[in-house]
Amino acid sequence: TDTTALEHFDALIDADERIEPSDWMPDRYRETLVRQIAQHAHSEIIGMQPEGNWLTRAPSLRRKAILTAKVQDEAGHGLYLYGAAETLGTPREELLDRLHTGRQKYSSIFNYATLTWADVGAIGWLVDGAAIMNQVPLCRCSYGPYARAMVRICKEESFHQRQGFQIMLELSKGTDAQRAMAQDALDRWWWPSIMMFGPPDAESVHGDQNMRWGIKRFGNDELRQKFIDATVPQADLLGLTIPDPDLHLDEKTGHYVHGPIDWDHFWDVIKGNGPASRERMATRVGAHEGGAWVREAATAYAAKRAAAAGQ
Ligand code: 3HC
Repeated sequence: TDTTALEHFDALIDADERIEPSDWMPDRYRETLVRQIAQHAHSEIIGMQPEGNWLTRAPSLRRKAILTAKVQDEAGHGLYLYGAAETLGTPREELLDRLHTGRQKYSSIFNYATLTWADVGAIGWLVDGAAIMNQVPLCRCSYGPYARAMVRICKEESFHQRQGFQIMLELSKGTDAQRAMAQDALDRWWWPSIMMFGPPDAESVHGDQNMRWGIKRFGNDELRQKFIDATVPQADLLGLTIPDPDLHLDEKTGHYVHGPIDWDHFWDVIKGNGPASRERMATRVGAHEGGAWVREAATAYAAKRAAAAGQ
């Protein structure tokens, strides 16, 4: 009966064991994982757009090759994550439809334009840096397929963060104009990057339950603080100023205290009113519709091969 199944599930969670696709699990555990993993996958594929804007404008062949590899990685992360989400029983077409019709979200961070080459550096340094903070604990998520996808993704994220930081380092050691470009990118990407970790724990809808289920290992605020503490010294090394006049080190706690975050702006962005939100979704839906013929051809070819193999 469900009671023993629930007791077995709870025993696995309490023992910090992995839940696998064939295990019984509460519907709400399944639903919250489909929600989080699919939205993570949506973020990866939408996240290709801001940097994709600079593939044909990269300042050197080397930078172009590195950026191409990174954007290609993000597509792969999306595929791993859609694959992990599908093990929970919801087909990819349905997940994409939820994205295209606004019933599922993607990360707020990808609703901002990439105005200069320094934005590519700031995204790698800050956005992928924030992603690493949030994704390393997910390698220990209680749901097996998600945790295993994260292990591979985190390895590639560290390359993403390093190449971004290196771009910022080169610019910060360059001409006055290059330094100003790096500072301008930090000014525009700092606050959206710390919002990436989600609302304050007090307003986190899923936080407590997901902590109990071993999906979330740390609250949003704790990961945000970890990211800020690690990033401030990096900005100092770059000789760049973080655009938060209240930011200061609390000697007693060893943590940086930051100024107020504009949560009204955050909720407005995830409602679809970010600076580039409309463009991101139009490009996404356009790519999906434009690629329909490829999916149809692949499906028809697979059916023909199956028929030929007498399946
Ligand atoms: N952008 C958009 N929506 C967000 C958000 C953000 N930055 N932060 C929170 N939200 C949404 C949540 O999805 C939830 O809405 P929902 O019920 O419709 O899903 C609501 O705000 C309340 O937030 P909660 O704190 O209750 O939500 P979670 O417990 O799910 O925590 C999270 C939010 C920390 C983002 C968690 O979902 C998570 O860890 N997700 C996996 C990591 C991820 O998705 N990262 C996105 C960036 S992808 C990326 O960085 C790629 C890299 O290569 C650049």
